[in-house]
Amino acid sequence: MARDSASPASNPASASNLASASPLRRLPAHVTVVEVGPRDGLQNEKGVVPTAEKIRYIDLLSAAGFAVIEATSFVSPKAIPQLTDAAEVMAGIQRRSGTRYTALVPNAKGMERAIAANLREVAVFTAASETFVRHNINSTIAESIERFRPVVALAHEHGIRVRGYISTAFGCPYEGAVAPEAVARVADELVALGVDDLALGDTIGVATPNQVATLVPLMTERMALDHLGLHFHDTRGTALANVLTALELGVTTFDSSAGGLGGCPYAPGASGNLATEDLLYMLHGMGIQTGVDLNAVVRASQFIAGALGRMPTSRYLQAALATA
Ligand code: COA
Ligand code: ZN
Repeated sequence: MARDSASPASNPASASNLASASPLRRLPAHVTVVEVGPRDGLQNEKGVVPTAEKIRYIDLLSAAGFAVIEATSFVSPKAIPQLTDAAEVMAGIQRRSGTRYTALVPNAKGMERAIAANLREVAVFTAASETFVRHNINSTIAESIERFRPVVALAHEHGIRVRGYISTAFGCPYEGAVAPEAVARVADELVALGVDDLALGDTIGVATPNQVATLVPLMTERMALDHLGLHFHDTRGTALANVLTALELGVTTFDSSAGGLGGCPYAPGASGNLATEDLLYMLHGMGIQTGVDLNAVVRASQFIAGALGRMPTSRYLQAALATA
């Protein structure tokens, strides 16, 4: 069961999961990178990428060897017109064994669509600040939790794993600072619903490492460390510093998007997820395994850059292409 009461909070990185190459600190030997470009990236593009190109993009990402790809969202087409073709995308991709495909689901209707599309994993999403939740999913935080109750029940009836996202965990575009206690309260509600994993989102890219150091222990009181994911945006250049701090605390799951595409349509200025290439470069350089082929991610980013007609922001990608 995912919610392991024997949380390893007091033992951040077990001896069997340490990177021997690092003389610096105890770091995990293996990290799971959740590739969110097809969802967080493409949902924020002004233009709608044709379905066939989305499918090709996801197939290229699958070939790179990701353990998890967040492929699309089963949300209202009025809210996110860019991802209206979620069912067609899921039907068109080649599912690689060894990759888990997941999608955002806001309500029971979305869950039914995800089941019809044969998803084995989904994510529900709320936030730590009321104003953001109102803009993003048109409810209060409490209403969002009630809305997720049948979603989680239905998912588990079908053996589908559920991640619970808490957006604006490090700051809100409307309310500014967010108290760690507010994040902990929402985490409590999601854990009580029975989500299998928790993820904290730095929706607008304001997080700094001290916040990571405060929030991670609060979360591991509630969810086992290996079921906690962190989702950083690099809007202000702090994403990799936040990852490094989280690694020292034993976190082993990080979201990122190929090329650094991304944002949130309800979070003004939230451009730029942490770029997968930049994350992989740092992790691999530190001797931390991911199972992902960095060159193959570059190829996926080049493909989607062509489809979008612009250069992604990833520093690694730009350096790689400049020296190619
Ligand atoms: N899939 C497809 N259509 C959906 C849907 C879903 N999961 N949920 C609702 N809809 C449709 C309804 O059928 C209805 O359509 P109609 O107007 O043709 O009858 C319309 O959307 C409004 O539905 P309602 O239940 O009143 O929802 P709402 O307008 O209060 O919106 C959400 C609530 C959650 C559905 C919507 O805000 C949403 O999808 N948000 C997602 C935002 C997002 O993905 N943000 C990025 C992630 S950070
Ligand atoms: Zn995001």
